[in-house]
Amino acid sequence: MTDRPLAGQHALVTGASSGLGEAVARALAAAGAAVAVNFVANEPAARRVVQDVEKAGGRALAVRADVSREDEVEAMFAKILSTWPALDILVNNAGVQRDAPLTEMTLAQWNTVLGINLTGMFLCSRAAARAMVRQGVRAGVSRAAGKIVCMSSVHEVIPWAGHANYAASKGGVKLLMQSMAQELAPQRIRVNSIAPGAIRTPINRRAWETPEALASLLTLIPYGRIGEPADVGRAVTWLVSDDADYIHGQTIVVDGGMTLYPEFARGG
Ligand code: NAI
Ligand code: BGC
Repeated sequence: MTDRPLAGQHALVTGASSGLGEAVARALAAAGAAVAVNFVANEPAARRVVQDVEKAGGRALAVRADVSREDEVEAMFAKILSTWPALDILVNNAGVQRDAPLTEMTLAQWNTVLGINLTGMFLCSRAAARAMVRQGVRAGVSRAAGKIVCMSSVHEVIPWAGHANYAASKGGVKLLMQSMAQELAPQRIRVNSIAPGAIRTPINRRAWETPEALASLLTLIPYGRIGEPADVGRAVTWLVSDDADYIHGQTIVVDGGMTLYPEFARGG
């Protein structure tokens, strides 16, 4: 991969004011893309990402939208497409957990998680695909007309007691991604997922913030360390580059081996 494999490209990263989204936005910008940094509430954090990118000589734009709301998603895409000539990359990253045992889970907890993690991904992917179909392949910019990345999770395959809403949303992401990939391939829009394992971000703070919690978490990770947001930033940067041009409809797992059934290393 060259130093700036995404030069001349324009990207939108949802939920980019923290955690994985922020790391992905910074990594795409470092690889040469202009980046729209979506946020829903924390505007100062999104502006800090934009300023850092600009200080390093890149281009970025902070744009507010709740990805679960159709009107706000449409307005966000209208703003980006009236500012930039094209949208080459969408990273559907925004996601939340609202954890509860099934017997105590409220409909609001269920709907919030499905609304952001799955419906939000549909709304943003639909808007991006429309723009990508319109623009077509931009010769000399990328071999694809567009690239869509869905931030899934190891919980698209690992069931998760106490998190049925979250696991259901990520299971849904798996077939949403594959169905979009099947449908959009003739338009040369590449669609893939990244499935991170445990990565150190605010969403799972309780799983790593004390030595005891971290030690317990590490029993689930054969590689012996928690993931860092930059691990995911690098994977996404490669996946949207032309070096990955023939990768389509796949989930790339970035988990230090969490999906290897680590308990079977000692039993079975
Ligand atoms: P995070 O809590 O730092 O990031 C979530 C982001 O989504 C935040 O920036 C938040 O403001 C944004 N967001 C929430 N609701 C939104 C809405 N309605 N509209 C727009 N943005 C909204 O946590 P993290 O870990 O960075 O999560 C990012 C994605 O990565 C999520 O989809 C999560 O499911 C996924 N993931 C995280 C893993 C981890 O271990 N940290 C592992 C596997 C997947
Ligand atoms: C969840 C994290 C969890 C990780 C591994 C992610 O999808 O958001 O809370 O640490 O999966 O279980």
